[in-house]
Amino acid sequence: MTRSTVPPAEVPTTDVDLYSDDQIREPYETYRALRDAGPVVYLEKYDTWAVSRYEHVREVLKDTDTFSSAGGVSVNEPFNRQLVGTTLASDPPEHDKLRGIVAGSLTPRALGDRRAAIEEQAEQLVAGLVARGEFDAVTELARVLPLSVVPDFIGLPQDGRDRLLDWASAVFDAIGPMNERAQRGLPALAQLGSYIGDLVEHGTVTPGSLGDGVLSAAREGRIPTGQCPALMLDYLGPALDTTISAIGNAIYLFSRYTEQWDKVREDPKLIPNAFNEVVRLETPIRGFCRHTTKETSIGGTTIGAGQKVLVLYAAANRDERKWQDPETFDVTRRVGDHVGFGFGVHGCAGQGLARIEAHALLKSLAARVASFELLGSERALNNVIRAFASIRVRVTPIGA
Ligand code: HEM
Repeated sequence: MTRSTVPPAEVPTTDVDLYSDDQIREPYETYRALRDAGPVVYLEKYDTWAVSRYEHVREVLKDTDTFSSAGGVSVNEPFNRQLVGTTLASDPPEHDKLRGIVAGSLTPRALGDRRAAIEEQAEQLVAGLVARGEFDAVTELARVLPLSVVPDFIGLPQDGRDRLLDWASAVFDAIGPMNERAQRGLPALAQLGSYIGDLVEHGTVTPGSLGDGVLSAAREGRIPTGQCPALMLDYLGPALDTTISAIGNAIYLFSRYTEQWDKVREDPKLIPNAFNEVVRLETPIRGFCRHTTKETSIGGTTIGAGQKVLVLYAAANRDERKWQDPETFDVTRRVGDHVGFGFGVHGCAGQGLARIEAHALLKSLAARVASFELLGSERALNNVIRAFASIRVRVTPIGA
């Protein structure tokens, strides 16, 4: 990538590649260095400005007039062009209109109707795994609920469901730079594009589902039909890998910090807070971009108009200026204001669903598992999502 901006001499710059395998495996020391270097650090390799302190991440996310999503949230421009028309890549007032299209499916009441079925599914899944004693907490636990709940929620036909994980992972790779990893995902992205195109063309979504809500909006003239694929992508893209990552990260952390699991087990009311703490400490989405609409200043550093700014949620969530002992996993920490689900108008639209799934699994586990023993783990390498490909655990059932 060519460097097109020359930052003023006083602005810290770095040639680190946040998207290399090594940085994806172990990003936290670099995040600390970025935070310590200043409110904004220029990433030479990507001609992008990284914001990593909590205070400034919130400032940027709040000021949608200056830090626009309309030019896309990816590091690379070709994929930004593919994001045009999504809620994610829009600014108010258009953003608010788009977000409103399917808001009805995501209200606490609408989600509440699904809760009992999700909890029942979690119970059955967890009972079976605990009876076996050893299992893979990614492939056999974390993936199972999202892969059944999300496609039903969006209203997808059975055909194509087996490709959803590959497609979702390609979407998140493409939100990084167009490195080799992202390029390898291009065929999957093309398939996803034609899958969504077919859904819209043939209207093959379940009546009453979120996808049906998108198509109805077009039929009623509230959005052009041509915008339906983008709105489907909004929900198909981020609903799986994020939740799977968070559930996997939870089991990994509880197997390493067994005393934290003891607390949850003894007081399951801690589960919602514990899940927030997981999302803070091992933030599933590392960072998304914004583009500056005018010259502006972040923490006293001036940035010109038309610049790309990388907002590092994962770094802000470990900022020692905000959090006491940020590296410590503490399920009792006051953690409600982490930015793992974003902040401001683009704050995660699907977090209610993600929370229902994760809370249900943790509740079922808390009723059955005395402790987790980590047998081995393997990291998944994705440009944006921090996750494991595999976490093998042995569980000790309560009362064993
Ligand atoms: C643990 C799970 C999840 C995490 C950590 C997560 C994280 C995020 C983050 C950080 C953003 C902010 C994007 C920005 O600032 O530009 C976001 C937005 C979004 N998320 Fe999630 N997400 C999760 C689950 C889901 C699920 C299950 C769905 C769908 C059902 C979903 C749908 C969306 C949508 C549509 C947006 C865009 C909202 C907008 O632009 O107004 N997410 N998510």
